[in-house]
Amino acid sequence: MSTAKKEYKRVTVKSLIDMKQSGEKISMLTAYDYTMAKIVDGAGIDVILVGDSASNVMAGHETTLPITLDQMIYHASSVIRAIDRSLVVVDLPFGTYQSDPKEALRSAIRIMKESGGHAVKLEGGKEIKDSIKRILNAGIPVMGHLGLTPQSIYKFGTYTVRAKEEEEAKQLISNAKMLEKIGCFAVVLEKIPAELAKQVADELTIPVIGIGAGNGVDGQVLVLHDMIGMTHEFNPRFLRRYMNLYEDMTTAISQYVDDVKSVSFPNENEQY
Ligand code: KIV
Repeated sequence: MSTAKKEYKRVTVKSLIDMKQSGEKISMLTAYDYTMAKIVDGAGIDVILVGDSASNVMAGHETTLPITLDQMIYHASSVIRAIDRSLVVVDLPFGTYQSDPKEALRSAIRIMKESGGHAVKLEGGKEIKDSIKRILNAGIPVMGHLGLTPQSIYKFGTYTVRAKEEEEAKQLISNAKMLEKIGCFAVVLEKIPAELAKQVADELTIPVIGIGAGNGVDGQVLVLHDMIGMTHEFNPRFLRRYMNLYEDMTTAISQYVDDVKSVSFPNENEQY
């Protein structure tokens, strides 16, 4: 496996294609606000996804369905103000692109104009082909998303691994090829067998970014709050936690409460 790493002053959709061609893996994480995006961008991430997972992580909803276009624009514009280098991809939320291509284009234009995001991501394959084409025709880069698509959770019924059966796997491969053919610059594959994800990455010339899709793909994405351990109730097998911020923050905050109650905070040096 290549460990090539070229310096990109600013990551663009073209840089991602270059990375795939040179064998450099693409790093991608979510961010929804200025402070987190500043850290993530400064740490050298290639792509920041303003994911509709903000619906779960930031707003506490059970699914990604309730988040609105206005809320996504608010999150994305906060992220954009923080970044110097990363490519910022913004999810089109549920209900803003499925009904017709004109509405999809209007939604994508609002994201680009009002947030300053660099690209949009849409969940689905053939059923939203016309919407994706319309957005692409307006010069807006589109990232696809196949496999487990959380906006369709009520159709699936569960968050289990997708495309384990041959028929669904075939459909996924055909959708991935269609996304490449119409001009998407990358595709996210979520929670599918590693072997299938590798096959798709090998057959496509555009980058394939995986989440729960093994290491045979061209890059990885995780939800930031999960990988730094701020969340603690969501424990899928694919999630590697790099910190346990839930515990560290709880300890720090309890200490602060004790210090305030015992009047050990503020001390003489912490006052005027
Ligand atoms: O919304 C999100 O965070 C996502 C990732 C899980 C890929 O779509």
